[in-house]
Amino acid sequence: MKVILAKHHGFCYGVKRAVKIAQDSVSLEGKAYTLGPIIHNPQMVEKLANEGVGMVHSLDDIRQGTVIVRSHGVGPKVYEQAEEKGLTLVDATCPHVKKAQMAAYELSEAGYQVIIVGEKSHPEVKSIFEWSKNRAIIIEHEAELNDIVFFNKVGVVAQTTFSGEEFQKIVDSLIERVENVKVERTICNATEKRQEAAVELANQVDMMIVIGGKNSANTTRLAELCLKKNKHTYHIETVNEINDNWFNKGINTIGITAGASTPDWLIEEVYHKMNQMENFLGDDLKEIQQGDIVQGKIISIYNNEVFV
Ligand code: F3S
Repeated sequence: MKVILAKHHGFCYGVKRAVKIAQDSVSLEGKAYTLGPIIHNPQMVEKLANEGVGMVHSLDDIRQGTVIVRSHGVGPKVYEQAEEKGLTLVDATCPHVKKAQMAAYELSEAGYQVIIVGEKSHPEVKSIFEWSKNRAIIIEHEAELNDIVFFNKVGVVAQTTFSGEEFQKIVDSLIERVENVKVERTICNATEKRQEAAVELANQVDMMIVIGGKNSANTTRLAELCLKKNKHTYHIETVNEINDNWFNKGINTIGITAGASTPDWLIEEVYHKMNQMENFLGDDLKEIQQGDIVQGKIISIYNNEVFV
């Protein structure tokens, strides 16, 4: 049996940074609160809670102390409120999200009609909307352009995790309708990279395991995409969900991927389990490749050097 890890998987830069900021804040202050769950991964949220990172839904729920803005970001009002209340605000907004927020702000300031392409209910999109001075129009599908009465100049900003292809379709359609269109391509490629790598792997293996929160939109999307390519796809949050019955005859190669909010230790636990099963089946790894596991350790290869 061979186990292959997707080329791009797990924590993205923004999530890794936010978790580190939360942990650093706690070691400095003893206790800190995030505004909403810091990431969409219940196991990681629980681990952080045990370390002293609590969670509040609004600044009204906290009287004093340190509040952490998660990677999705918040609108300008939250910064003002935190200052008024004398709270210490630690900003873990992902720099890519910050860029989208500032683009919306500047476009709005310059008199552009701002259009945000993204999911209306997503916290990041809500934050970008607030930075546009609550003036932007949020759309998710090209067809929604039909309902808009356009100004002379329009500025477009994207939710960082929006599909590049879909965004381009909307931009092309917009350019046909409005003369002056300013496009801020604020898409971060972390999601796209994970999706491409997962689909590529799902095509090659007999079974795919997708690790990550069931409440994580990007992990769920990874599982959906893999399922389209490989009917033996399973979305799990932890190693405990692995069912031995999945490993029937004909399952010789297993692909593993994980969403951008899935911490390494959850991925490693799955690797470890796979390794045990491998021993149980009595097969050896034939050659070491990027992402293989050897005795429970993940193999990385850079410049032809092997790291465990
Ligand atoms: Fe930031 Fe991109 Fe992750 S926007 S939070 S690095 S998916």
